[in-house]
Amino acid sequence: MEKEELLKEVDKKVAACRKCPLYKTATNPVPGNGNFEAEIIFIGEAPGFHEDQRGIPFCGAAGKLLDRLLSSIGLDRSKVYVANMLKHRPPNNRDPSLEEMEACREYLDEQIKIINPKAIVTLGRFSMVKFYPFGKISADHGKGKIVEYNGRKYIFIPMYHPAAALRAGAVDAQLREDFIKMPEEIKRLEKIINGVVEVPIKQEEEKEEQLGLI
Ligand code: URA
Repeated sequence: MEKEELLKEVDKKVAACRKCPLYKTATNPVPGNGNFEAEIIFIGEAPGFHEDQRGIPFCGAAGKLLDRLLSSIGLDRSKVYVANMLKHRPPNNRDPSLEEMEACREYLDEQIKIINPKAIVTLGRFSMVKFYPFGKISADHGKGKIVEYNGRKYIFIPMYHPAAALRAGAVDAQLREDFIKMPEEIKRLEKIINGVVEVPIKQEEEKEEQLGLI
């Protein structure tokens, strides 16, 4: 099956999902959208009011900011894929619960596997910890890493959430700066993944630190 068909199968599973109660209060499922051949997948937290109304991720105010950030580096939605940790809106935009994220995990995992992107860019802390459990958004935003997830290596860049940038000018300035640096960061890590340059020792130290070995 082609990527498009496989992703449509995921959409159907999301629409029929009853693994957590969020489907009861949601208007529409919001599985994700964009380019099936995307090199970069952006992963947010959960649909908000507008996303729930339209079934499209990041189509409200935070999404408009995401579009401006993409355009600042010569990208738009037609070139990337955008999805969320949760595929149904939590009531009143509350934070996702651990149970909801676990129930929804297989859909995002399938999307990542099908799209097979070069880079995963997370927006906000909930999606960051999926790939980098000990990360701190205030310290790690904009800093690319290579992560192994479900048996594959990905370039991974955690970013602040655009909604946080809409609330605070300092976060907005940082997010803009991190976006501008993203293409270079991806190129730098691509060389490491492809074995063109050696992995800096610091990354190994970080890994050992996370495992409590040093
Ligand atoms: N915030 C998110 O995390 N995702 C959306 O789709 C919209 C707002």
